[in-house]
Amino acid sequence: MQLVECESRQSPEIQALFARTFSAAEGPAEGEHVAGLVRKLMADSAPEDVLGFVAMEQGRIMAGIFFSRLTFDPPVTAFLLSPVAVHPDHQGRGIGQRLIRFGLERLKATGATRIFTYGDPAFYSRVGFTPAPLETAPFRLSHPEGWLGQALDGGEVMALAGVPRCVAAFDDPAYW
Ligand SMILES: CC(C)(COP(=O)(O)OP(=O)(O)OC[C@H]1O[C@@H](n2cnc3c(N)ncnc32)[C@H](O)[C@@H]1OP(=O)(O)O)[C@@H](O)C(=O)NCCC(=O)NCCS
Repeated sequence: MQLVECESRQSPEIQALFARTFSAAEGPAEGEHVAGLVRKLMADSAPEDVLGFVAMEQGRIMAGIFFSRLTFDPPVTAFLLSPVAVHPDHQGRGIGQRLIRFGLERLKATGATRIFTYGDPAFYSRVGFTPAPLETAPFRLSHPEGWLGQALDGGEVMALAGVPRCVAAFDDPAYW
């Protein structure tokens, strides 16, 4: 299996992967919604604000993950991990955790110091996330227990001032 940064020409295959995965996990409407989110992340964001990685086997994409910038004032190099998907036929083999760790290493190498995510603490705690203060979320959250963070520089996860701004693809209170 090869883990690589994704390319814009792969957008249709990546959207299909997210549609299939989230459709299987949470129903067709969610599949469509997340695929739309991925399309927007890939098409509408400045390249320095979004990083996507895929896991490939025999030329096919079996998993994908996106990180998008969270802008704090004063500035902190922070990203949101979301969404991540492993094709249903390949789940439970460690690919999700491997891809997340790979992405975190790449982000760290580019100088990012904080990563946040919004999901199941039982899963994300396996890859270093702990509960984050709600003031570091860009919107009021419907599931506050799912707001999680980690420091990539060994510093304190939480000491950040101000409400961050997310990229346009996530700029919708319904998402949160
Ligand atoms: C969540 C997901 C990315 C994990 O990838 P994966 O390759 O299946 O996970 P791994 O093999 O690395 O890890 C598997 C472990 O995580 C656990 N796990 C998987 N999804 C979980 C979830 N949503 N909540 C809690 N634990 C979860 C599994 O039970 C398994 O635990 P075990 O090792 O004790 O059996 C993948 O299952 C997926 O794409 N799910 C549907 C989409 C989704 O929910 N994405 C995340 C939200 S953005």
